[in-house]
Amino acid sequence: ELEFFFPKEQTFALIKPDAAKTHKDEIMKKVKEAGFSISKVKEQALTREMAEQFYKDHKGKPFFEQLVNCMTQGPSVIMVLSKENAVEEWRQLMGPTDPEEAKKTCPESIRAQFAHDILSNAVHGSSNTEHALRSIQLVFGELDAD
Ligand code: TYD
Repeated sequence: ELEFFFPKEQTFALIKPDAAKTHKDEIMKKVKEAGFSISKVKEQALTREMAEQFYKDHKGKPFFEQLVNCMTQGPSVIMVLSKENAVEEWRQLMGPTDPEEAKKTCPESIRAQFAHDILSNAVHGSSNTEHALRSIQLVFGELDAD
C-alpha cells in the first residue's frame, strides 16, 4: 500500500546493440539489484526513425550519423522500468556519457563497468518523463492494443 503514497514513475531504458550482445545478463542483474521493476521488455533492432527520434536534440552534430548507425546495427534490449523517481535513478545507474569520466566519478555505474567509448556507451535512458513517455509509445505503443 506504500505505492499509494509513492506512486511509481516509468522510464524508457535501452541496452545498446554491442552491449546487448556482450553484457546483457550483467546489466539486467544491475537493473534488478537497483530495485527497478521491468514493466516491459523486448529485443528488437531500432529503426532509423526510432533512433533519430530518441536523439533528435543531437541532429546536425558531428557524431549524429555514427550514433544512429551504432543504434540500428543490431538488436537492442528495450525496457520500460518502474521505480520511484525512475528517470533520474536510471540515469544515475547509467553514469556519465563518457565512460572515462564514469570510471573516475561513478565506478559502480553501468557505463564505468561495461562501456567501450563515448559512442558505444552501453545504455540509453530518457532525460525526462515527457521524453520517456514518447519513447515508450514509439516502441511499445502498438503492443498495448494486443
Ligand atoms: P547525450 O544525450 O549527451 O548523453 P546520454 O546518452 O548520457 O543521455 O548523448 C547521446 C549519445 O550521443 C551518447 O550516449 C553517445 C553519443 N555521443 C557521442 O558519440 N559523442 C559525444 O560527444 C556526445 C556528447 C554524445
